[in-house]
Amino acid sequence: MGARKYDGRLGIRTVGLRERDGHSHYNRYEATPYEALDRLFQVYRFNNAERVVDFGCGRGRVAFYIHYHFCVPVVGIEEHDKTYEEALNNKASYRHRTRHIKAPIRLKYGLAEHYEVKPIDNCFYFFNPFSSKVFKKVVHNILQSIERDSRSADMILYYPTKEYKRVLKYKTPFRLLNKVRLKGASDPHEKFLIYRLSK
Ligand SMILES: C[S@@+](CC[C@H](N)C(=O)[O-])C[C@H]1O[C@@H](n2cnc3c(N)ncnc32)[C@H](O)[C@@H]1O
Repeated sequence: MGARKYDGRLGIRTVGLRERDGHSHYNRYEATPYEALDRLFQVYRFNNAERVVDFGCGRGRVAFYIHYHFCVPVVGIEEHDKTYEEALNNKASYRHRTRHIKAPIRLKYGLAEHYEVKPIDNCFYFFNPFSSKVFKKVVHNILQSIERDSRSADMILYYPTKEYKRVLKYKTPFRLLNKVRLKGASDPHEKFLIYRLSK
């Protein structure tokens, strides 16, 4: 199914790119492809996800997709004002169709590195939203929250960079659990890496 058709099913608009005007740490908007999400969730299951956080949620595709298919609470954080507005519009039309899903879905305007990680947050999603310097700060906040309120947590990276992998390998107790490659992908980066920190 094409991305526009999939969007249509969820009542959202997430197709397209938004380039950044020369911001060195914050990356452009581009949504995780639906076929990649379909593939990820053939393999990965939310066993005990209390809340999923999408750091740099853009127009919200991943947040709405997860909420729709798994009915788990989701929070998305986005710092680009226009993109955030678009995510809010998407939420209004998405929620119009999915009032029956009780799990909350929250969209927060602001910087991922300023987000206060809550004790219920235990699954963290990143599709290359920012530089590894900002990633390090966000990961530090996640680890501090886990230190305060001990829990297991998963981290999912789409299109992972060497730098992100290095941060997780050398600076955190998160360990690689699984790699999910996309069928027919010629680009070696087109995959998910799933990391877990077990209590
Ligand atoms: C590659 S897109 C990913 C969108 C969405 N997570 C997905 O996979 O469909 C990255 C998004 O992160 C946002 N972003 C970049 N730096 C950010 C920051 N420091 N805090 C919050 N959002 C940020 C960008 O504006 C962009 O919308």
